[in-house]
Amino acid sequence: MSGHYPNTRLRRTRASAWSRTLHRETLVTPADLIWPLFVTSGKGVEEPVATLPGVSRWSVDLIAERAKEAVKLGIPVVALFPNTPPDKRSDEGEEAHNPDNLMCRAIRAIKDACGDDIGVLTDVALDPYTSHGQDGLIDARGYVTNDDTVAVLVDQAINQAEAGADIIAPSDMMDGRIGAIRRALEMGEHHNVQIMSYAAKYASAFYGPFRDAVGSGGLLKGDKKSYQMDPANGDEALREVEFDLAEGADSVMVKPGLAYLDIIYRVKQEFRVPVFAYQVSGEYAMIEAAESVGAGSRDALLMEKLLAFKRAGCSGVLTYHAPHAARLLGAST
Ligand code: PBG
Repeated sequence: MSGHYPNTRLRRTRASAWSRTLHRETLVTPADLIWPLFVTSGKGVEEPVATLPGVSRWSVDLIAERAKEAVKLGIPVVALFPNTPPDKRSDEGEEAHNPDNLMCRAIRAIKDACGDDIGVLTDVALDPYTSHGQDGLIDARGYVTNDDTVAVLVDQAINQAEAGADIIAPSDMMDGRIGAIRRALEMGEHHNVQIMSYAAKYASAFYGPFRDAVGSGGLLKGDKKSYQMDPANGDEALREVEFDLAEGADSVMVKPGLAYLDIIYRVKQEFRVPVFAYQVSGEYAMIEAAESVGAGSRDALLMEKLLAFKRAGCSGVLTYHAPHAARLLGAST
């Protein structure tokens, strides 16, 4: 095994910075980033999210400003999540169908401000709209029903497409929703509206701060284990991806990111399709916590993680650190 030494010394190419640059296999650029943004009501409003230091909810007018900032930074896509006012949440999440809800207004504001300079990715799921915080409709026992929920999600997706969404991203984990949404998009002549499926989304403990950000955390009773995946499973993720691709997904997501690098890798190796990681809120919070107690450097931790996603096979990463990462990567603003 050691027979190559000393002719081959693997440290030789690592000995200087120029050589490390030359031999680098993986590159992260601002073009790999998708920036998730939280939308809130009002005008001129910025509300910091306590559990996500450095992340705020923005009113629709300021969301458009964030999108312009993304364009300047070279970030190709923003992802939108609404914080629906409590009085507009209901058992059946009717506000999801309102063509003038926060989400649809934010889409229009961004498209008015930036046109095709940026892609708008929209979340399809009911948790920002339901009074129980589940991602779908529930029956008397509190079980999230599949087929009734899919019908509602289709309607939600079409509203978003009509408002100008470029990528529909269902995060609900119902069976069959990709096919149903694709059919409805085709019928509505939204042929070029893409679907990025949250295909392998796990029932994870890393989502806590997000639920604060969209205001569903305090409302949620129970858990989401009857629809989100068991963190123990890998083969099942491949089946989820296979079905979503067959139903018409253009790209697939693995979520959370860091604890599921093996899934990202397997999906990429098996299907050779665009794969995205969601570096979720709990992952963001961990980096910030490490920085704040002096256990690690935010910038170094962040860049190493982004690199790991790319190395595992990702085409891109959803991260709340997107603007910061883009600046670190040399974007001029
Ligand atoms: C729910 C949704 C969640 C996230 C994105 N969409 C949370 C959940 O499933 O409860 C989490 C994102 C994050 O933690 O950053 N549709």
